[in-house]
Amino acid sequence: MFFGSDNQSCASQVVLDAIINANQGFTHGYGDDQYTQEAMAQLEAVFECPLNVFFVATGTAANCLSLAALVKPWQTILCHQHAHVFMDESTAPEWFTSGARMVGIAQTHNKLSAKVLEQYLVQAGDDLPHNPQVGAVTITQANELGQVYSVEEIQSISQVCKSHNIKLHMDGARFANAVAALNCSPADITWKAGVDILSLGATKSGALCAEAIVVFNPDVKDTLMHLRKRSGHLISKGRLFGAQFSAWLKDQHWLTLAIHANAQASQLVKQLKSCTNVDVIFPVPANEIFMLLPTALAQYLRENGAEFYDWYPQTLPENIQHTENQSYVRLVTSFLTTDEHIENFITTIQAYQQT
Ligand SMILES: Cc1ncc(COP(=O)(O)O)c(C=O)c1O
Repeated sequence: MFFGSDNQSCASQVVLDAIINANQGFTHGYGDDQYTQEAMAQLEAVFECPLNVFFVATGTAANCLSLAALVKPWQTILCHQHAHVFMDESTAPEWFTSGARMVGIAQTHNKLSAKVLEQYLVQAGDDLPHNPQVGAVTITQANELGQVYSVEEIQSISQVCKSHNIKLHMDGARFANAVAALNCSPADITWKAGVDILSLGATKSGALCAEAIVVFNPDVKDTLMHLRKRSGHLISKGRLFGAQFSAWLKDQHWLTLAIHANAQASQLVKQLKSCTNVDVIFPVPANEIFMLLPTALAQYLRENGAEFYDWYPQTLPENIQHTENQSYVRLVTSFLTTDEHIENFITTIQAYQQT
């Protein structure tokens, strides 16, 4: 019963087979191979526009290289106060950007809103060179509280960004889950809505190890080319990424996997809601579930083979009443989550309730 994170699952067999198939003979290095070229062409078809794509091994590298391409060292990058890039990537953004400052905007809502962003920006000082200037905004899709930004919400955020001459980055470590949840075109929630760069994650959603920096704004492509090389993220056996992405995208495999992960989360939530003592906190449009449960039950579940993380208490909304005997946890489903995993989890809760 692995609900710790979607990266606890293996790679999909389709992706693994593609790596093995690509592991034959010679081809060019550094992304000049046929697998990488094919993956780039597929990405252009998926996003319905010409693109510059830079493959990297981790989501942190994708996010931080993207942000480094968008801002100057003396600028700031705004995000939701609970953003992964702010809370879980150490000081990598500051390192990659040569010192630009991450600013987590306090917000009671579980997504960054255009209104709060605008309020922040109108109050930000413009006394140069004393006040730091905002260079970029980053939002996460699907986000760290399992929420998905609608097309309109992204458009509103990007309008605020444009009116202040700020670039917009999207952390899409779970982009596939967001597309599956919205049932929209990937273009609608990215470049058509004003996103300049997307970190497109495949690792959590079926790849072995592959992320893509998808650049919609051609102004930053040369900068990214240099930054990736300079930071040691240009791998020489580029076919490793090309083969994974190509197989992941082919025949909508990426969406099939994400649709399954989301459906399993819906099913799990439905059953959790029928359990007494368990409170699901946020809506579950994608594959992340946040809940309160008795700490003794959390312990019982873990003792019986369930894995999940305690979550950051500061992300719990203020209006949610909870006692000190309750634990706040996150569960994540993946393409590998079966009905049996869910059934076992629910049966274990029921067994605890009978003790
Ligand atoms: C929203 C989000 N962004 C980025 C990442 C970073 O991924 P990595 O651990 O590959 O650096 C994660 C990983 O958990 C994530 O959840």
